[in-house]
Amino acid sequence: MSSILVCYGTTEGQTAKIAGRIADGLRERGHTVETVDLSTSDPADPAGYDAVLVGASIHVGGHQSAVRSFVDAHRETLAARPTGFFQVCLSIVADDEATQAEAAGYVDEFIEATAWQPDRIAVFGGALRYSKYGFLKRQVLKRIAKDMTGDTDTSRDYEYTDWEAVARFAADFADFVEGDRAEPSEPSFLE
Ligand SMILES: Cc1cc2nc3c(=O)[nH]c(=O)nc-3n(C[C@H](O)[C@H](O)[C@H](O)COP(=O)(O)O)c2cc1C
Repeated sequence: MSSILVCYGTTEGQTAKIAGRIADGLRERGHTVETVDLSTSDPADPAGYDAVLVGASIHVGGHQSAVRSFVDAHRETLAARPTGFFQVCLSIVADDEATQAEAAGYVDEFIEATAWQPDRIAVFGGALRYSKYGFLKRQVLKRIAKDMTGDTDTSRDYEYTDWEAVARFAADFADFVEGDRAEPSEPSFLE
């Protein structure tokens, strides 16, 4: 049994929801898991955990700065234990490959900027919560959604997260932490 930190940045809550689901999956495997919102909490030192997952969502092309700061501050600690990164965004659920590629581009940019190479990487579709946005944000998201999902009906919310993919990611990370896997030469990228 390992102790695992699942920490994340979230702006409207979808990444927190995904982090919770990943934590549930890891607990089912017998691990002790702590979830921490990096933007509102002072996270425990990751050195106190056997493994660490870091999540972030994309807003206007960037991740939460609190996540970037956390990785910058703990780069060496992260490099010394099993780690994974999961990103939540809309571009991954777009029909066209160019927009989908933007999602991978955000991951590449994050890895380059932080010089942290996670062992496991996943990108999940997020959500459109029109009911929670103020007027301006709703207009911005309507424009973004027009290109990415086509879902511009602001009278309802949309959730694009593939929960089975989330469960697979948790199971894959549990395998990795437990050492019950073939050693990959490259980090794996699930979606
Ligand atoms: C103001 C705003 C800007 C966004 N910009 C992007 C973007 O540039 N690319 C993208 O793929 N998704 C974008 N999204 C979609 C979010 O990544 C998606 O809603 C996600 O579920 C948010 O996760 P969170 O609730 O954890 O913050 C944006 C969402 C909002 C509200």
